[in-house]
Amino acid sequence: MCLNIERRIFTDNLKGKIMQNTVNQSILPYTAKINELNHLEIGGCDTVELVKKYGTPLYVYDEDSIKTCCRQYKDAFSSYDDVEILYASKAFMTRAVCKIMKDEGLGLDVVSGGEIYTAMNSGFSMQKCYFNGNNKTFQELELALYCNVGKITVDNFYELELLDKIAKEQGKTVDILLRITPGIECHTHEYIKTGQIDSKFGFDLPQLDEAVLKVKTDYTNLSLKGLHAHIGSQVFEKDVYADLIGIIAEQYSKIREKYSLEFSEINIGGGIGVKHTEEDDPPSIYEIAGIITSSLKENIAKYGLGKLKLALEPGRSIICNSGITLYKAGSYKQVTEGRKYIAVDGGMADNPRPSMYQAKYTALIANKASTEAEETVTIAGRYCESGDILIENISLPVITAGDIICIPATGAYNYSMASHYNRVPKPAAIIVHNGHSDVIIKRESYQDLISFDVIPERLAKSDCSCI
Ligand SMILES: Cc1ncc(COP(=O)(O)O)c(C=O)c1O
Repeated sequence: MCLNIERRIFTDNLKGKIMQNTVNQSILPYTAKINELNHLEIGGCDTVELVKKYGTPLYVYDEDSIKTCCRQYKDAFSSYDDVEILYASKAFMTRAVCKIMKDEGLGLDVVSGGEIYTAMNSGFSMQKCYFNGNNKTFQELELALYCNVGKITVDNFYELELLDKIAKEQGKTVDILLRITPGIECHTHEYIKTGQIDSKFGFDLPQLDEAVLKVKTDYTNLSLKGLHAHIGSQVFEKDVYADLIGIIAEQYSKIREKYSLEFSEINIGGGIGVKHTEEDDPPSIYEIAGIITSSLKENIAKYGLGKLKLALEPGRSIICNSGITLYKAGSYKQVTEGRKYIAVDGGMADNPRPSMYQAKYTALIANKASTEAEETVTIAGRYCESGDILIENISLPVITAGDIICIPATGAYNYSMASHYNRVPKPAAIIVHNGHSDVIIKRESYQDLISFDVIPERLAKSDCSCI
C-alpha cells in the first residue's frame, strides 16, 4: 500500500481548518507518515518504537484523527440549528474515548449497562446519553433511569410495558423515542443491515400505530419525543438517508393528525461507511450532512412539522480510521504449488470482522513502510480456525519473522468485539498525540485470564489423580 501524501493537508485541521475530505475516507489516520528510517509514524510516534515499548498485537489510536472527525461532523451539520451527534460507543468505548467525546461536545449512544457505567465513570453528562438495544434488561433500564439517561429508544412492546413500570416505581417520567424498521434495504453485509422489515430490531411500520396509542393512553410515565431508525452499518449509499427522513416525516404527519401528538426529535442512527481498502469509496461526512439536512428541511416544510432536533449516532465513521493494529509476523508456510501464508501474533480474537463479515482490509509493513511490494501473501491469524485469515492475497514487500504488520482502519468493532478465544489475553490499546503515547487499555496478562475462574471447593478437595 502506498502512503498517499495528500493526507498532509489534514495537519491543520485541529487549528480550525476543516477540509472537505473526511477522516472516514482516509485508510490511515491523518497524522500517518513515513519517517527517514522507512518506518510508519502515527501521531508523531514511530510505530517500531511503539512496538518495542508496548508489544504486539497493539491497537494504536490517533487522537488528532478522532478529534478532527468529531469537528468535521459538527461543522458538516452546522447548517441545521439543532443537532445532537451521539458517538455510538459500541464501535469502541473506553473511559479515555468518553473523555474525548465529552471534550468535543458529542453525546453518546449506549447499548448496555456496561456502556452506561463506563460513561458515568468518565464524568459524562448522562443527559447526553441515549440508550438503545433490542433486549435491555430490567436491571439495565433501572440503572438508566436511576442515573437519568437522556432518552431511551424503545424497541418493542415488551420494553414499553417494562419501562413504564420501572418509571412508575422510580416516580419519573422518561423521554423516549420509538425505534422503527423503515423497510429500507441498504447494500451492506447481511449481519449489519438493520433497516429491513424482517429484522430483530424495532417496531415495523404496521405496529407503530398501536405502539403510539399505548404510550398515549396506557403508559403515563413515558413521554414520546419522536422516532428512531438505524438502517445498517458500513453504508456507502447516500440517498438512503433522504429516503429514511421522508419515511419518518410521513409517519410524524400521520401520527400528528391521528393523535394530535407533536414530535420534537428525529433520530436517524448511524451507519456511514469507511474506507478499509483502495476499492472502497465511502461518502464524505459533508456530502451526507448536505443530503440529510436538506432532506430534513424539505420534509419539515412538506408536512408542516414543527421544529425538530436532529440526532445522529455515528460510530464506525468517527473512530475506525483513527485506529490501526500492529502485529508481529511469525511463522510462514508456502503451500506446494499454492499460496504463501504469513502468520501474525493476533487474528480473529482481536479482529473478528474478516471471519464474521468477510470484511476486507489492507496492510503495510510498518518497518519497511515504503519498500516496494515483491510477493503476494495471505495474512493468517494465530487462532485454531482455518477461517482465521485477516487478508487474502495481498502484495507486500518480502516479510520475515519479526517484521511489523500494520492493518489500518481497525479502530471500530475490533477491540469492542474482541474475545479470549484460545485463552489469548486481549491486546493493549494506546493513544498517540504529538509524539506522546499513552495506554488507554492495559494489555491483559495470563493472571487476568484466570482471575475470573473459580474451582469449586468440591473439585479442589477431590483427588483426581486416580482417574
Ligand atoms: C442503533 C444504532 N445506532 C448507531 C449504530 C452505529 O453504527 P455505525 O458504527 O455504523 O455508525 C448502530 C450500529 O450497529 C446501531 O445499531
